[in-house]
Amino acid sequence: MRILAAGDHFVRPDLIRAALDEELALRSPAAPLDPPGPLGPPEPLASLDPLDPRRAAAPADGPRLDVTDLVLPWPHEPFGPVGGVQEASGTEQRLIDALGGAEVCVTQMAPFTARVFEASPALRMVAVCRGGPVNVDLDAATRHGVAVSFAPGRNAPAAAEFAIGLMLAAMRRIPTADAELKQGRWRGDFYAYDESGGELDGATVGLVGYGAIGRIVARVLLAFGAKVLAADPYADPEAVRADGVQPVGLDDLLRRSSVVSLHARLTAETHHLIDAERLALLPEGAVLVNSARGALLDHAPLPGLLRSGRLRALALDVYDVEPPPADWPLHDAPNVVTAPHLAGATRQTAHRAAAITAAEVGRFLRGEALAHPANPEVAEGPRP
Ligand SMILES: NC(=O)c1ccc[n+]([C@@H]2O[C@H](COP(=O)([O-])OP(=O)(O)OC[C@H]3O[C@@H](n4cnc5c(N)ncnc54)[C@H](O)[C@@H]3O)[C@@H](O)[C@H]2O)c1
Repeated sequence: MRILAAGDHFVRPDLIRAALDEELALRSPAAPLDPPGPLGPPEPLASLDPLDPRRAAAPADGPRLDVTDLVLPWPHEPFGPVGGVQEASGTEQRLIDALGGAEVCVTQMAPFTARVFEASPALRMVAVCRGGPVNVDLDAATRHGVAVSFAPGRNAPAAAEFAIGLMLAAMRRIPTADAELKQGRWRGDFYAYDESGGELDGATVGLVGYGAIGRIVARVLLAFGAKVLAADPYADPEAVRADGVQPVGLDDLLRRSSVVSLHARLTAETHHLIDAERLALLPEGAVLVNSARGALLDHAPLPGLLRSGRLRALALDVYDVEPPPADWPLHDAPNVVTAPHLAGATRQTAHRAAAITAAEVGRFLRGEALAHPANPEVAEGPRP
């Protein structure tokens, strides 16, 4: 069985190999999701050592694995559209060459386009270790009989914690205070009533989208003492209420929330979901956070709303164009906190991504149903 570990500099091939090894060879208890250490690269796992005595535990009749590596350039180079798929890294030709006769590929960013499927007849399965398989042409995969799986929720804790961090940073102007102090300015005037920020305790916070990330954000906000509203037409209102969160319509949420955080998926329906008309519904001095996808939000009205104070602060991890251009209108707008699309970037996310996909490869090779199929119409994997 040839497997291509098409990793990158985040979900590295060695993490994928270690997770596959754990899943397919050793079958030992689940690997801890905590990363091996706070500093430096993870140590080589003993299970990758061919002389490791634990290898004897591998079932004699188990699949013989031949795992090869490919390292894609992300995040050292931004991801982007490649040959008809979105948010991909590397080139189609490099992937085709690396696949050779591989039957399975585990990847986060490789561009699985129609051309790649056409050129890789041996391929049977692509396990995508990210929340949505946007780098795979699913129609082409299905036409070629290739099963595709994905890894929903793999970075939900990381992204939720980052959203809360952005929210606090924007509400309390932490990055500005830090930058000013480092430039020798003691901004004690930020303590003035007009300058000081608000609290989450007692605030009404609106979550647009109540999926894996929105739910964790809600839990943290409730612990802070916030009243939490959620607008998600696909969430079960009873389940939302059971979490202590009030399900509401989007316009109602925008009118009532002093802090709004976006956590919806980007679809044709949610493109510019928050447009100028909807932004006008926000109460004076509201704080807006977007760590989901840039195109959920129409960016054009934002500089004006910040300058007039109608928006007190804006925190962004994602943008309509990534990275934003040099003449980006928000560069010199007041009270903007930014990060370069980092919400999901924790070591635990990388380990979890590798573990979820390795488990899917295990199911596929054993002929079991996939837990997260993206094209369930393709017959489940080969019988062992
Ligand atoms: N910045 C980052 O690094 C980063 C990391 C992880 C996820 N994300 C993004 O965060 C968002 C949430 O991710 P998730 O893992 O919670 O996804 P999810 O699929 O679990 O949840 C998304 C939710 O959006 C809801 N939704 C769909 N249409 C909607 C609409 N019209 N109005 C309101 N809600 C709607 C869905 O019902 C679903 O509950 C996604 O956009 C994802 O791409 C960003």
